Amino acid sequence: MSNPSPHLGALLIIFAATALAGNCRAADPPHQAAAEIKRGEYLAIAADCAACHTAPRAKPFAGGLPIGTPLGTIYSTNITPSTDFGIGRYTEEEFSQALRRGIRRDGANLYPAMPYTSYAKFTEEDVRALYLYFTRAVEPVEQRPPSTSLPFPMNIRASMIAWNLLFLDSGPFVPDRNQSPEWNRGAYLVQGAAHCGTCHTPRGLLMQEEDSRALSGAQVGPWYAPNITPDPISGIGRWTKEELIAYLHTGHLSGKAQAAGSMGEAVEDSFQHLAAADLDAIATYIKTIPVVRDPADRVSRFSAGKMSSALAQLRGRDGIRSDSESDPGGAELFQGNCASCHSTEGQGSKDGYYPSLFSNSATGARNATNLIATILYGVNRTTSERQAFMPGFGGHPTDANPLSDRNIAALGNYVLTHYGSADTIITEQQVAEVRWGGPSSPLLALARGGMAAAAVIVLLGAALFIIRRRGAAAWRAKRTAPCT
Ligand code: HEC
Ligand code: HEC
Ligand code: HEC
Repeated sequence: MSNPSPHLGALLIIFAATALAGNCRAADPPHQAAAEIKRGEYLAIAADCAACHTAPRAKPFAGGLPIGTPLGTIYSTNITPSTDFGIGRYTEEEFSQALRRGIRRDGANLYPAMPYTSYAKFTEEDVRALYLYFTRAVEPVEQRPPSTSLPFPMNIRASMIAWNLLFLDSGPFVPDRNQSPEWNRGAYLVQGAAHCGTCHTPRGLLMQEEDSRALSGAQVGPWYAPNITPDPISGIGRWTKEELIAYLHTGHLSGKAQAAGSMGEAVEDSFQHLAAADLDAIATYIKTIPVVRDPADRVSRFSAGKMSSALAQLRGRDGIRSDSESDPGGAELFQGNCASCHSTEGQGSKDGYYPSLFSNSATGARNATNLIATILYGVNRTTSERQAFMPGFGGHPTDANPLSDRNIAALGNYVLTHYGSADTIITEQQVAEVRWGGPSSPLLALARGGMAAAAVIVLLGAALFIIRRRGAAAWRAKRTAPCT
């Protein structure tokens, strides 16, 4: 979606300039502050602040990215050091409150579209490094992003206080002394900066992350962030640590999985830039988290399907044209739209650039969301290694050959029967849902932030308030009743 905007080059110059301007904390020798700023920049990448605070083709961290929720649009804010429009007036303590408690400088609550429930894990030192980076090395942008105005009752930001009381675990990360430093580093990154759970952990009734089923899979807008616990059937228990590292670094693991949608963005903007030691630490930790098995899963999604072709079947019917041009079957659609890259038998290209459609998480999962989303939106992920590009077929202005919901259901079912989870059936309705933004939890930000919760909380709060008022009125009535 956006670049993390490294600024590496300008760093020292800007630092020197701010130091000259007398902004430097007296206690810091310059080289130490410079090192801290650099660490802050790294943490900002690990935490992917740019994913939300940098809008496409806009200045880094100037905010204004619209985050759709069922209750209205929330705009990310300008977090450049502009005093009028950004966080230029924030003290380090105020910055820490925003990051770890979801409280703005003026005391108002932030909506949890800002992932402060994860960032609560940040240590003091890391918050300081982030603060130094944002206030000293990021270029101020004098520009006010559109303001967020949700309809009543969501416009009452104080409603988040109740939600926070219930769900914000505000303690910082506590290392487990029985584990290695590497494991603890991994746990710190996964639970905090990298906020894997924001997407991969299923949510409860009030949109809070369900810790008892951490990382066991959740819907994120039109994509599904699968179970990544070490269970060998439902999760990634059969991946080696090296494979997980390779996937996070490149977004691609031949014969298993590739990263599209929000995971593609996370790899592109954040994970590919992490130090080898940190990726190692993340993988070490992920390999040890409690397994979660879905009893309905009988085979691993990475081992479903095999090489197969329907060419013979098609040849029997006047080449590969369909009986009715307006309603082609799955086989024709596959030949016409997919086979050129993924090959007629679905095995992809030899070099693995075009992945095989069997032994592939997107086709092997019982949940077909990612297959549908891939056909609709394609893949576009750039890493230092290469660009992985597959066009979308859903009818965006740039799509070459838009397919209808009916076409995509037919095509998807063809792919599933021949290469993947043969028992899964895609309906037109399902395709329509994914096209619309995802089943039930409508938009990416909903899963990212947890907005519906707030509405429920407000309603609960209002109910309690009314009950209390009634109670108080009854009590007053009693008190003022004449004694008999
Ligand atoms: C998933 C999206 C997302 C990510 C990632 C994210 N933010 Fe935010 N952030 C938001 C949104 C949305 C708001 C505004 C929320 C509101 O208006 O209630 C916000 C608000 C803020 C604020 C309050 C600013 C103000 O206007 O007073 C600060 C500070 C902030 N973010 C810093 C950060 C930093 C630093 C990072 C990375 C460590 C980060 N954010 C990552 C979405 C995000
Ligand atoms: C912004 C949301 C988001 C975040 C943050 C995120 N993921 Fe993902 N992840 C996804 C989605 C969506 C997919 C499915 C992508 C696809 O199939 O194209 C995915 C796929 C994966 C897969 C492949 C699983 C499979 O079966 O294909 C692994 C492994 C993974 N993520 C690990 C992680 C780890 C570890 C972290 C944190 C360091 C993380 N993810 C953070 C959304 C996210
Ligand atoms: C122009 C070449 C091209 C065409 C045409 C194409 N694909 Fe792809 N496909 C790719 C590439 C490239 C990737 C991503 C590889 C990577 O992520 O490293 C991909 C990935 C996929 C994935 C895995 C996505 C994920 O997130 O896990 C599926 C499933 C898929 N394609 C199915 C299809 C289907 C079905 C069609 C026909 C509608 C199709 N592809 C057409 C090139 C293509």
